[in-house]
Amino acid sequence: MFDTMTLTKVGGAICGALLVFLLGNWAAELLYSTEAGGHGEEHAQAYVIEVEDAGDAGAAEEEGPDFATLLASADVDAGAKVFGKCKACHKIDGSNATGPHLDGVVGRAVDAVDGFAYSGALEEHFDTWSPENLNVFLENPKGAAPGTKMSFAGLKKAQERADLVAYLQSLGG
Ligand code: HEC
Repeated sequence: MFDTMTLTKVGGAICGALLVFLLGNWAAELLYSTEAGGHGEEHAQAYVIEVEDAGDAGAAEEEGPDFATLLASADVDAGAKVFGKCKACHKIDGSNATGPHLDGVVGRAVDAVDGFAYSGALEEHFDTWSPENLNVFLENPKGAAPGTKMSFAGLKKAQERADLVAYLQSLGG
């Protein structure tokens, strides 16, 4: 006989399978819909690949190498140039300006500079400025930490963010 547990388990398994399938379809659409003129075979294959990789859906959306890989081969001099976009607000000599000083920021606790009036929004989303957290924050500051008073649109290019973080790392603290 069916007891409630069995029904629940079977129901859950069906829902789970459906969800994986839908997610896979959706990811495949995202990845392949821009390819003009792809014919049916390619589409069919794309679905299969995506369903098998459904556990990895997040990673599949990322384009290109991951941040750690970019950082490992980042260009500190290029990062110094990118930092030109931050200079209006951030100094690297231990003194604060519109923003807190950024020398030694890599590995520093969030909202930790004495005497700087933070909004408090950053520490709601991040704890330490690890390279990974800087990468997320700098791509889209207002999106990653709503309410932050850092008025900066973000660095859309992963390579720029990697170069910049390598530069900040090179400053020590
Ligand atoms: C228009 C001014 C402005 C610009 C441009 C700007 N920032 Fe900021 N930044 C701020 C302010 C203000 C804060 C404090 C935000 C808060 O408390 O919500 C801040 C905070 C930060 C923090 C957190 C520091 C801490 O001690 O927790 C980091 C990291 C940071 N900025 C990096 C950058 C980088 C890198 C750039 C350039 C790509 C940049 N910012 C560009 C104004 C700016």
